[in-house]
Formats: sequence, C-alpha cells, structure tokens
Amino acid sequence: MGDLGEVVRNRRMSRAFTGAAVEPEVVDRLVDLAARAPSAGNTRGWHLVVLSNDETARYWDATLPAERREGFAWPGLLLAPVVIVVVADPGAYVSRYAEDDKRHTGLGEDREAWPVPYWTVDASMAAMVLLLAAEDEGLGALFFGPFGATEQVRESLGIPVEMEIVATIALGEADPSAQHRGRSAGRARPGLDQVVHRGGW
Ligand SMILES: Cc1cc2nc3c(=O)[nH]c(=O)nc-3n(C[C@H](O)[C@H](O)[C@H](O)COP(=O)(O)O)c2cc1C
Repeated sequence: MGDLGEVVRNRRMSRAFTGAAVEPEVVDRLVDLAARAPSAGNTRGWHLVVLSNDETARYWDATLPAERREGFAWPGLLLAPVVIVVVADPGAYVSRYAEDDKRHTGLGEDREAWPVPYWTVDASMAAMVLLLAAEDEGLGALFFGPFGATEQVRESLGIPVEMEIVATIALGEADPSAQHRGRSAGRARPGLDQVVHRGGW
C-alpha cells in the first residue's frame, strides 16, 4: 500500500499500454475501492461497464472504426487490456431525493431542479478513486471521452437510454517507451494563490 500523497503526485494519464493482461482480482480490487467513494444521499447511482481482453474490441469498434483507426495517433491506447465505461443514472438521484428524508430539498421533482448534476459528480468521484487505486497497483490509466461516439458506445454495449455516459477509463500496464503526453499536458498547473481564495473570493 503506497502513501496517499505519493500516489496523488505520481498519477499521470497513460495513453499507451504494453498489452499485458491485468488479473481479474486486480480489477475486482479497483472497482471495490471505487464503490467506496462518497455519494450524494448515498444514492450510488452509477455503473461501470467493464470490458476485458477481447471484449475491449466492442468499445474500439464503436468509437474508432477502421477508417479512423489507421490514422489514430495513439495506437498503444488500443492495447489497454481493460476498458471501463463510467455511467451515471440521473433518475436514481431524482428518486432518492423524492424520499421522505430528502423531499424538502425539492430535488426529487425532476433532474432540471438540480443546480449541480450530482450523478455526474458521484460517478466522477468513483472514477477518481479508481484512477488513484490503479496508480497504487502500479497500473496506468486514461480517463477520456468516447471520441464523440457516445451513442455508438451506448448501442454497442446496450447501455439504457436513460443512463448518462460520463467517460471511459482505459487501464493496464503502461508502456513508458510509447507514452504520449496528451495535447493539454504542457499547460502549467495554476499556482495555489490563483485558485485558492482564503477568507472569500
Ligand atoms: C473530465 C476529463 C476529461 C478528459 N478527457 C481526455 C481525453 O478525452 N483525452 C485525453 O487524452 N485526456 C483526457 N483527459 C486527461 C487530461 O488531459 C489530463 O488529466 C490533464 O492533461 C492533466 O494530466 P495528468 O492527469 O496526466 O496529470 C481528461 C481528463 C478529465 C478530468
């Protein structure tokens, strides 16, 4: 078990993988930790669609059809042995907040009543735990959007229409020799004095 500060500091997105398999028990540990993330009203209205080994082709076939795949800049990403689609269930939150102890919030009316979509927040918190747990296991991971192919992913994996597809996590042994830093990696992290407003904005 690593030190939390070290895990947070060392985590970087990985965009190339060796293709080495990840033991199913490791994936089980990661999803178990993700399921312990905090959740609004303890609703826990998120789902992970886990694709392993050959199953990952279903994701790539839906998001990167052959004609786009040829020119794809990060072929090592497609070697990830595990692809996890992070899904949020807005309806679960509306239902939960219509229960007796939460009805006073008014958030049980419908999803438009929510100033912040807590289903997305919860799914993201779970995803963050998973990313940190992956780092702790010595694995690389990339959190990314499904290349503008959200509806193709939904159809390919049978994700119900009322579910929100939040992101994808590709996971596996990182290939240090083939890493791409990503287009945004060169942006400097803002200084804490730019983002932390002590005593008020
Ligand atoms: C909401 C979100 C969406 C992201 N989408 C992508 C993406 O589509 N493709 C990608 O390569 N990286 C994506 N990233 C990774 C960011 O580019 C990366 O976290 C950022 O550049 C900082 O780098 P680091 O995480 O390695 O420290 C995403 C990250 C977040 C939090």
